[in-house]
Amino acid sequence: MPTDVRISIIYYSLTGTVAEIAREMAETAEKEGAEVRLRKVPDAASATEKAAAPAGAAPAGDTVEVPVACVDDLLWADGVLLGSPTRFGNIAGPLKSFLDSLGGAWQKQQLADKVYSGFTATGSLHGGQESTLLALMTSFHHFGGVVVAPGYTSPEKFADGNPYGTAHCTEDRTRPVDDTTRTAARIQAARVVRFARAITAA
Ligand SMILES: Cc1cc2nc3c(=O)[nH]c(=O)nc-3n(C[C@H](O)[C@H](O)[C@H](O)COP(=O)(O)O)c2cc1C
Repeated sequence: MPTDVRISIIYYSLTGTVAEIAREMAETAEKEGAEVRLRKVPDAASATEKAAAPAGAAPAGDTVEVPVACVDDLLWADGVLLGSPTRFGNIAGPLKSFLDSLGGAWQKQQLADKVYSGFTATGSLHGGQESTLLALMTSFHHFGGVVVAPGYTSPEKFADGNPYGTAHCTEDRTRPVDDTTRTAARIQAARVVRFARAITAA
């Protein structure tokens, strides 16, 4: 399949959950024929971040082999998947800082007319998955993006239960990313590739 569409998957992850979902999405997007950039937003390394990390867990999120995201990773892409852990029901600070660095590109309309979609992870089931995903979508609207949510577009989507985006509940770090979440990630990534491809062809 020709690589006729470009997808950037940009995430922040402290303990590796969001990074794991991002990797699953990157593999799927490549299988769907996209050229893919997998990028991380660096750890702010604040005292709070370090205190919040379980002992020895920081390197899981800070995957050294993944390049650091920059503005060009959005400019280059036809479709963008953005992932953040849920923090107090919202986007984590490091990813929000990255979004806040996009003002110049936004001003020049360079973020518009692309497909955008979001994903997240929480510690608890009702800890704010939807509020984080909707917060990401708020920015997508400001960008002039085309928001592609997974919805319940396949029977498997009912298993993970979140139409706004892939969302994994770690149950306080006791539940690693499982098949249900991986399936949701694959469905979402394939859908983003499909719609981004349609936009580039339009
Ligand atoms: C400061 C802070 C705030 C958090 N707030 C929430 C929250 O509001 N709801 C929730 O379910 N989990 C919350 N968590 C847990 C994280 O969402 C969870 O550890 C994260 O999804 C794991 O993602 P990661 O492994 O990619 O870092 C919080 C964690 C930290 C450190």
